[in-house]
Amino acid sequence: MPLLIAIDGPAASGKGTLARRLALHYGLPHLDTGLLYRAVALQMLDAGIDLGDRAEAGRVASNLVADQLADPRLRERAMGEAASRVSGIPEVRAALLSWQRRFAAGEAGAVLDGRDIGTVICPDARVKLFVTASPEERARRRHSELAGRGEETTLAAILADIRARDERDSSRSAAPLRAAEDAVRIDTTELDADEAFAVARDVVERAR
Ligand code: C5P
Repeated sequence: MPLLIAIDGPAASGKGTLARRLALHYGLPHLDTGLLYRAVALQMLDAGIDLGDRAEAGRVASNLVADQLADPRLRERAMGEAASRVSGIPEVRAALLSWQRRFAAGEAGAVLDGRDIGTVICPDARVKLFVTASPEERARRRHSELAGRGEETTLAAILADIRARDERDSSRSAAPLRAAEDAVRIDTTELDADEAFAVARDVVERAR
């Protein structure tokens, strides 16, 4: 059975870093599923389509191609917000579900990270991790990441973003952010990337 690792958690919890490291360590393809929602939002903004237009959002999501995931603008702060808005549209989630399932079904196995991987996309994943950290610590990390890319913001603005995004992602009716019952929780507030990786690797090793 191919090794499938599902990683969920809120924004800037460290799940992306962890997913990349596990993928590298086990030689698995990795999909950052947040990029799919960001790409849908970016295509809509570029085409001048209102982010609340459900039918158009669904159409854009159905026509998404892998090349569109490479645009550096996808990592900008505003795109996280825009992605969070379109991610509540059921037509978008339905279109992206098959995209993600195809990726997860590869013979080599896979690592996927997002908000609903263990609950909706890959409920049968061999390993499920739910990665969290305090909102303050997540804001601090996101702030230094954006600063590293030259995006000027204040810590207070990022913290406000994070709280708003947590609230929206957890309270939406379509696939809300929550841990699968069989997910192992990893709180990275007090852990650096190496420590979080060591904890996650132990979980994977026990499941192999
Ligand atoms: O993880 P990232 O910050 O790139 O995600 C952007 C937004 O996309 C999230 O706030 C969330 O609303 C949405 N998302 C989602 N389901 C996923 C991944 C991301 O709803 N599996």
